[in-house]
Amino acid sequence: MCTSKRQMRLGAFIMATGHHIAAWRHPEAQADAGLNIDHYRELAQTAERGKFDLVFVADSPAGWDRAKDHEALRRTAQGAHFEPLTLWAALSQVTKHIGFVATASTTYEDPYLLARRFASLDYISKGRAAWNVVTTGADVSKNFSIAGHPAHADRYERAEEFVDLVKGLWDSYEDDAFIRDKESGVYLDPDKVHLVDHKGKFFSVAGPLNVGRPVQGYPVIVQAGASEPGRELAARTAEMIFTANQTFEDAQEFYSDVKGRLARYGRRPDELLISPGIFPVLGGTEAEAQANYDHIQSLVHPSIAWNILARHYKGIDLSGYSLDDPAPPLPENTELNKSRLKLVSDLVSRNNLTLRQFYLAVATARGHRTVVGTPEQIADAMQSWFENGAADAFNIMPPILPTALTDFVDQVVPILRKRGLFRHEYEGTTLRENLGLQRPPNGFVVQARQQQVQAVV
Ligand SMILES: Cc1cc2nc3c(=O)[nH]c(=O)nc-3n(C[C@H](O)[C@H](O)[C@H](O)COP(=O)(O)O)c2cc1C
Repeated sequence: MCTSKRQMRLGAFIMATGHHIAAWRHPEAQADAGLNIDHYRELAQTAERGKFDLVFVADSPAGWDRAKDHEALRRTAQGAHFEPLTLWAALSQVTKHIGFVATASTTYEDPYLLARRFASLDYISKGRAAWNVVTTGADVSKNFSIAGHPAHADRYERAEEFVDLVKGLWDSYEDDAFIRDKESGVYLDPDKVHLVDHKGKFFSVAGPLNVGRPVQGYPVIVQAGASEPGRELAARTAEMIFTANQTFEDAQEFYSDVKGRLARYGRRPDELLISPGIFPVLGGTEAEAQANYDHIQSLVHPSIAWNILARHYKGIDLSGYSLDDPAPPLPENTELNKSRLKLVSDLVSRNNLTLRQFYLAVATARGHRTVVGTPEQIADAMQSWFENGAADAFNIMPPILPTALTDFVDQVVPILRKRGLFRHEYEGTTLRENLGLQRPPNGFVVQARQQQVQAVV
């Protein structure tokens, strides 16, 4: 059923056993989730049954730095999980419509190899690949034989060059470069193969790529940074932004700020979809939802509570504090996740939280918006942001997996449909078509046309 009413886009932000830090201890959680392909298959198929646009796994090329804190390492279930592109390639074979967002780092990956993997995934999934472009906030340099984690500004400078280079590599072959005429023995039109011949500050890459032009032209470009350089990179290159906002005002500010930058790059507001995260705790009644919330919070072991605090108060001695003391101000600056630090600092100061209230607020979804209520109330919380310039899409962050995703699909999605806010059927076959995004032309073809026009003028 086609409708002209603006439609919400939905992503299932999957995190192994669930987003809550103690999710694995919940009776409904799949404790071995991170390394259980059948679990991920079920999640991808559930999201597709709900007609979600995409599934997404966050990723960082390292085990958790909690290795320093043995007690925390002993008690958390987020240290080991599949590499995203490998996982999505497998699940693309047991799904038909759902898109696959894989995270890959512009700081620790190689552009040629990355371009090849995403182009391959886009063919293997028949046009459903997307790249979550991250500069990797966490210091994982110890795994990459380099002397230290690059500074925030340097990471973004490298990311700007990295994204352009990858797009140039994806444009190595024009869409109709392959002739494959057995009769004449002509397989390829060399005039439609392009060398990127890139020489930049960080990279020197000749090309061409050894995979044809991706089915979608380019896999969909997603980004998740919110600092000044993060917003600028997104305004110039991203088609979807994953973001974290606690309040409606912050979400609106972010939405209008980033959309306001697009014209500078000749882009329209609908070419970039903004997707805040939401951690929905459902219940048949408000009281039941609150009971579900209290139960999962009760699963946080005290050592995990202090570990959460220690990670946020890096370099600050908390030994003299009790959990019911007012939370002291968080460290001012970081070369890691700038916007996330600001988000949690505002959370503490705006609400005068105690240390206990602070760790509980972070234990759910690491600073993303938490909504506790009935399916109607969750739908209301999404509709108000969607209809008032704060969101085009939502990254659904199920507290416990698999059940919380199934509950959302069975209880909230029907309400969103009844309100005419969400699709009944997929619109297209590729992720781009379902997101309403254009297929980008080949950059070399555009360039050649512009040169022809200039030659004539
Ligand atoms: C929804 C969401 C998902 C993210 N996923 C990842 C991820 O998978 N890997 C990663 O290293 N960073 C991830 N990030 C962190 C961002 O890439 C970025 O480092 C962070 O938002 C801070 O960016 P800033 O320093 O530009 O403010 C994610 C952020 C958000 C909001």
